[in-house]
Amino acid sequence: MIRLAVLGSGSGSNCQSIFNAINEGRLDAEVVIVLSDNPDAYILERARRHGVSAEVMDCGGYKNKFPLEVQQAVAEKLQALRVDMVCLAGFMRLVKEPLLAAFPNRILNIHPALLPAFPGVEAWKQALEAGAKQAGCTVHYVDAGMDTGEILMQAYVPVMPGDTPESLHARIQVQEHILYPAAILSALARL
Ligand code: GRF
Repeated sequence: MIRLAVLGSGSGSNCQSIFNAINEGRLDAEVVIVLSDNPDAYILERARRHGVSAEVMDCGGYKNKFPLEVQQAVAEKLQALRVDMVCLAGFMRLVKEPLLAAFPNRILNIHPALLPAFPGVEAWKQALEAGAKQAGCTVHYVDAGMDTGEILMQAYVPVMPGDTPESLHARIQVQEHILYPAAILSALARL
């Protein structure tokens, strides 16, 4: 059985979509651990409700930094758990060498825009402000840059007249929840 780890900082709706895909037989895998840098993140609660172990990564009070020693400890933990693939799902820190080296071509991220357009935070808002006619989401391999790794799959979402950042993000999230499990499946097939 393929063993997944999920890292997230927030609500965890994409993590939920992975749980659902597994439960419904669309993804032949198991999530062995969920990690969050935010002790209050709902993703941890979702994991526990699912009977998946959920742990907090202590990033030493830094707001955005993902300290290298923490990445090293996470890499060792995931290797000890024999994790095959790491899925970033709303994880708000940049992954660097210790984790990348431990899981080459085995770390995925979901981003709420049609990369390479609009990397970074609140990508849906960036798209709206730029007057984009099409928005969407991307699953990509993670490298050391911000949302720069090889693109695996994308889904398009129309921008509607009168959209607010919230309404557009909600429409994008519907597609994210379909896209991420499908993209994980496709990445697993490439291993
Ligand atoms: C999603 O929009 C994802 O694309 C972005 O952060 C958001 C996370 O949402 N990277 P959730 O925590 O999965 O609900």
